[in-house]
Amino acid sequence: MKTDLPKTILLAEYAPPAYQVSTIDLEFRLDPHATRVTATSRFDRMAGAAADAPLVLDGAGLRLVSIMIDGAPVGPDRYDQQEERLVIRGVPAGFVLTVITEIDPAGNTALEGLYQSNGIFCTQCEAEGFRKITYFPDRPDVMARYRTTIIGDPVVLPVMLSNGNPVADETGPDGLRRIVWEDPFPKPSYLFALVAGDLALHEDSFTTISGRSVALRLYVEPRNADKCAHAMASLKKALAWDETAYGREYDLDIYMIVAVDDFNMGAMENKGLNVFNSKYILARPDTATDADYAGIEAVVAHEYFHNWTGNRITCRDWFQLSLKEGLTVFREQQFVADHQSAAVSRIHDVRVLRAAQFPEDAGPTAHPVRPDSYIEISNFYTSTVYNKGAEVIRMLHTLIGEDAYRRGMDLYFQRHDGQAVTCEDFIRAHADANDLDLGDFFRWYVQAGTPEVSVDTRHDPDAGTFDVTFTQTLAPTPGQPVKQPMVVPVRAALIGPDGAPLPMMLANEPADAPQAGALERVLVLSDRVTRFTFMQLPERPVPSLLRGFSAPVKLDTRAEDADLAFLMGHDDDPFNRWEAAQTYAIRVIHRLIADIGAGRPLVLPLEFREAFTRTITDDALDPALVAEALTLPGESYLAETMSRIDVEGITTARQFVRREIGRSLEPQLIALFDRLEAAEAGQPYAFETAAVGRRSLANLCLAYLGAAGGAAGLERAERRFATATNMTDALGGLLVLADQPGELSQPAFDAFYDRWKDEPLVVDKWFMVQATASRPDALDHVLTLMEHPAFSMRNPNRVRSLIGAFAASNPQGFHAADGRGYEFLADQIVALDAMNPQIAARLVGPFKRWRRYDDRRQGMMRAALERIMSRKSLSRDVYEMVTKSLA
Ligand code: ARG
Ligand code: ZN
Repeated sequence: MKTDLPKTILLAEYAPPAYQVSTIDLEFRLDPHATRVTATSRFDRMAGAAADAPLVLDGAGLRLVSIMIDGAPVGPDRYDQQEERLVIRGVPAGFVLTVITEIDPAGNTALEGLYQSNGIFCTQCEAEGFRKITYFPDRPDVMARYRTTIIGDPVVLPVMLSNGNPVADETGPDGLRRIVWEDPFPKPSYLFALVAGDLALHEDSFTTISGRSVALRLYVEPRNADKCAHAMASLKKALAWDETAYGREYDLDIYMIVAVDDFNMGAMENKGLNVFNSKYILARPDTATDADYAGIEAVVAHEYFHNWTGNRITCRDWFQLSLKEGLTVFREQQFVADHQSAAVSRIHDVRVLRAAQFPEDAGPTAHPVRPDSYIEISNFYTSTVYNKGAEVIRMLHTLIGEDAYRRGMDLYFQRHDGQAVTCEDFIRAHADANDLDLGDFFRWYVQAGTPEVSVDTRHDPDAGTFDVTFTQTLAPTPGQPVKQPMVVPVRAALIGPDGAPLPMMLANEPADAPQAGALERVLVLSDRVTRFTFMQLPERPVPSLLRGFSAPVKLDTRAEDADLAFLMGHDDDPFNRWEAAQTYAIRVIHRLIADIGAGRPLVLPLEFREAFTRTITDDALDPALVAEALTLPGESYLAETMSRIDVEGITTARQFVRREIGRSLEPQLIALFDRLEAAEAGQPYAFETAAVGRRSLANLCLAYLGAAGGAAGLERAERRFATATNMTDALGGLLVLADQPGELSQPAFDAFYDRWKDEPLVVDKWFMVQATASRPDALDHVLTLMEHPAFSMRNPNRVRSLIGAFAASNPQGFHAADGRGYEFLADQIVALDAMNPQIAARLVGPFKRWRRYDDRRQGMMRAALERIMSRKSLSRDVYEMVTKSLA
């Protein structure tokens, strides 16, 4: 907690450390409230540092017991203990520093540093948690070799783990066990990990491409021993994939993963010892949905991929976070696309980007993929750094092609292995490996905001030419009033009247030019206005642009409704088929919102319903893609498409479309649902692409039927809920019942809780479904649930399931006209800030776009933010989010 104004850290002020550390020997005497940490490190002054340069160590919330240099005590006259620092003067050029500190893991509610989760000791050090363990240069450009001794009672803590390999293990006459772990790879402090507790081991092994055997060890609480198989299978796939896709082999003899219930984020890639939120490990068909299975596969792979992109090559400073996160998310996306439906996985990437990153880019906390300033780095684990960062790598891949990309990656690994580097270093490796100039492309790292690209087309039937003119604009963002044009790769095709793509021949282009006459091309926009003239097109083609979402931009194609309906049915790029359906749906909803505003009666356009019907009744289509195409854009993204957000309008219009589809297509939806359910009947659950697609389409049919509220649909929802043998189907039923009156919903919620009360991850779903259900008393219901014995402010998953889900995904409840939703969220942020600032700061999110609402709501949201600001002690985390929101 800070009382003075938190200070802003600037990229421009980066300076290398004056002292480097080559080795650190850590000893932990574990005790819930008084763990004693002895850190013995070898320091050497860097060439270029002044001889009198003080030694600056980071440290926060530590009880300092003693300091020694080369074995001699250092008295308080030689050091200053500042708020989060220890500065020692008069140190020699090379020396061994021994620091003893004492910490309180059981009292650590911020879940950063060393803490306990259900009695299990575990650590979370990224980004700056190591300083809550000992005084140390806690910055990623200080890389040392770690040796860790853990001392504990073997009865209470039968498992004691740290990075690397165990090298000694003995139990002394005092009954205490001492185990020593050694990690041969130098690493920054944020990759340190320690775990100790009563854990069950699920073990397997993997033979690497060069024939080395790696022990794969998954540690979970004993009651979860039956929920490990999917995570383990995912891990093996990830190890194999990185060998073939990137030529990267695992480098230690043991790979360990530990699952804990209390975790601020998804997971953490500590060297050789990942620590995971149990949500991304534990799965059994009856407890986890298809989405959970997919999340586990993706996150297990993500953390594994960090071993090369993050650990072997790390970040010089935290401004470079996307160097490892954007790249690793992109690698994760490639992996998922190779193992599940590629089109569906791309659609999911884009949904996430639009729901989370586009609003961020358009709001008060907009920042570049590589930020240039921050107050609290934890606030920069954002969708911009992660998801837009991944889009930047994807664009690079699209622009230079797979072979050049692989050459660039190979050079990056070869050149920088063992180093802490910058985003410039990454791009330079690709430029050098392929002899390219990527200078303008680098703007994607430094300019914030989502470019808007509009398209004008002109067909000249006599000349047989088709002009496509792109105009890009990039609005100002905080601190960046003027922008340069971006380099935007637009993957494109021209579709002929029969639905087949036409050869793309540019004017003034030799017939043997690289892409001449291709059926799909990458058009590169590098100026504000870029025009392409295509030849030999006597008939007007329908352009299919930004295929696969080849750049993170807002594209306005100005297509006619009829063209959208045509692309929905004919585009050979599955992503763009989906995109056409989304664009069409957004248009229809916008027009309905206008009708609501003008008091006109609401009518679902016939052409829209027909396009919908064609998709639903076409048996040749992949069910997973049909489900995606027919899922309406979410309320958050719809809000993003309006300059002044109309809360009631969005909900009413979207609900109207859902109800009208459910009502007018009832027979088709029922027939399809029954057919899909029959196909599944009797089959054991498998997380397998075709089955996932069938379940998702069946649940979508049910959702439309539920929105219409007809007896046949509700009956099916009740039956599915009651008889489902997997969580995907059960939840599909429950979600429909949740929006029905209490006589239908409450018995379902009660039965669900009763059955699953001992499975925390399922109880999270129980909270979430209720928090997001549309009911007039939404907030009061949430307040009641906060009193439920299963609710706890201490568990981040629970907080996200109830408070986070309500504020972010229950717009009617949160934005209720009386403003109580805002009051509620402000209260929770203040209460949480005293316990867990990272989680509290995340909850500020729903307030960020307050300026986009009507005047009344603006006033109330602003008052709620100001009330948070008026608190005497706020964490840096919440302070930064609130001040930036109000600025
Ligand atoms: N590096 C982790 C990942 O794989 C996330 C760590 C987040 N830590 C934090 N303090 N926000 O994405
Ligand atoms: Zn990551």
